[in-house]
Amino acid sequence: MFSLKDKITIVTGAGSGIGAAIAEAFAKSGALVYVADCHEVGGKETVANIEKSGGVAKFALVDVTNETECQALIKGVLEENGGRCDVLVNNAGVGHGGTILNTESADLARLWRVNFLGAYHLCRAVLPTMIKRQAGSIINLGSIASITGMESRFAYTVTKHAVLGLTRSMAMDLGSSGVRVNCICPGRVQTPFVDARLREYADPQEYLKQMVAPHTLKRMAQPAEIAGAAVYLASDESAFVIDGGYTAGK
Ligand SMILES: NC(=O)c1ccc[n+]([C@@H]2O[C@H](COP(=O)([O-])OP(=O)(O)OC[C@H]3O[C@@H](n4cnc5c(N)ncnc54)[C@H](O)[C@@H]3O)[C@@H](O)[C@H]2O)c1
Repeated sequence: MFSLKDKITIVTGAGSGIGAAIAEAFAKSGALVYVADCHEVGGKETVANIEKSGGVAKFALVDVTNETECQALIKGVLEENGGRCDVLVNNAGVGHGGTILNTESADLARLWRVNFLGAYHLCRAVLPTMIKRQAGSIINLGSIASITGMESRFAYTVTKHAVLGLTRSMAMDLGSSGVRVNCICPGRVQTPFVDARLREYADPQEYLKQMVAPHTLKRMAQPAEIAGAAVYLASDESAFVIDGGYTAGK
């Protein structure tokens, strides 16, 4: 396992699913983890799990759609840690089912605010300190829907494409400042997010089969299988991120 010893990290949406698994893996690798979520119960549960395993975590109540709350989160983390925040994981995300024709502008706006603006607000708040220190890793949670179209997931596909665009644009502009920006684009992962989607269907088992079919492995991932990639991207060992940002501008 890569070491995150003494790194100051923030994981949004860490009260559930992939975010909780990333927070737990970060803590196991030696990081101090700020578990940032708008749901207090899930967030505090993640903190308790981390503490039970001997890790260090703090809960931070934040709605990532609110720019003022995002700025306050970063300000608080910097004040508590001598001006340092080493890693930001923009993982908080929501879904919505529907084609363009049955996606109301309010639905699109809701997904835009959480999936895209949440990451944008936090990146803008944390970047000045990362640039000043010439160090930092920002990890955004995209999706297979960042890369390809997804049926009946109009708003999700649009906003997840934007998350990849945000990542590429920032990676191009910030690489020479010592700040890495990367996007993890998972296939289906078994979390409450996917469970909610399955409940939309009359025959969840049949839909589950359809959902896993396009994956060569013919199964969903477990959240911990995604967390390992985040640990690598947060660690100093990912300094060159394999291609040194060559493909960010391609
Ligand atoms: N589960 C999958 O199959 C899958 C696949 C690819 C990408 N993703 C992405 O991974 C991320 C996590 O997904 P998950 O499956 O773990 O979801 P999840 O629903 O289990 O967890 C999402 C967390 O985000 C939090 N959250 C939602 N809105 C928020 C807000 N405004 N402010 C702060 N926190 C907020 C929720 O409270 C929850 O704890 C999302 O960005 C999702 O799009 C998921």
